[in-house]
Amino acid sequence: MNAIRNIVILTGAGISAESGIDTFRGGGGLWEQHRVEDVATPEAFARDPELVLRFYDMRRAAIQEKQPNPAHFALAKLDREWPGDLLIVTQNVDDLHERAGGRRVLHMHGEHLNAWCTACDERSRWTGPLIDRPACPGCGEAALRPDVVWFGEMPYRMEEIYAAMRDAHLFVSIGTSGAVYPAAGFVRDARSLRARTLELNLERSHGSGWFDETRLGPASELVPAWVEEMLAGNAN
Ligand code: APR
Repeated sequence: MNAIRNIVILTGAGISAESGIDTFRGGGGLWEQHRVEDVATPEAFARDPELVLRFYDMRRAAIQEKQPNPAHFALAKLDREWPGDLLIVTQNVDDLHERAGGRRVLHMHGEHLNAWCTACDERSRWTGPLIDRPACPGCGEAALRPDVVWFGEMPYRMEEIYAAMRDAHLFVSIGTSGAVYPAAGFVRDARSLRARTLELNLERSHGSGWFDETRLGPASELVPAWVEEMLAGNAN
């Protein structure tokens, strides 16, 4: 009998790595040739908005060329077929979970394909560039910025995440280094709430010791195998 009914899954850059999207901490401290503090902070945007907008325009264009990989498709299958509660909390700002068919997806660090109007607070679906300062479809002001959570900003929808964590029997972390809070602390929260904890990652993450079980390897192999186990009722 499978005692697990409710699942919270945390994903990070590692799940999209095999789709050709660079991880954050793989390139010698540089992220796409930039220091994080030059492009991913509110201060950077205030100091040099052109640099930041151009950087995010490039990333927004690039992700639209990428495709989901077997790990995204496997999670979408689990989402479709799992009878209990399930929430995929992603730190990723790409839309590969959704393009694979995932529905119960929460973007705690925002989304590349959204623009956020700092004048009227509206979010708009946005696939094109922001560098030419287009007008907000809601209020007409030229005050759009990428709808991504920068360092020093609050992640989105934390109350929903903690509500799901409180009911979860299993917490699974996939493709994240465990370097950035609050997501890095979820494993400890899950443990204190008596959930089982599982890590699927290429290498041990910073918080690896907190997990009941760690499986090491590429997400495209580990995730489909784990999903099949879950759907076959072999989870313990
Ligand atoms: N399969 C599984 N795991 C992988 C793979 C792969 N093919 N490739 C890399 N990984 C692992 C790495 O070993 C690493 O532990 O994915 C992890 C990626 O870690 P980071 O680059 O730190 O990405 P992430 O944890 O998502 O970063 C968190 O930091 O910069 C901020 O807001 C940004 O959401 C991001 C947050």
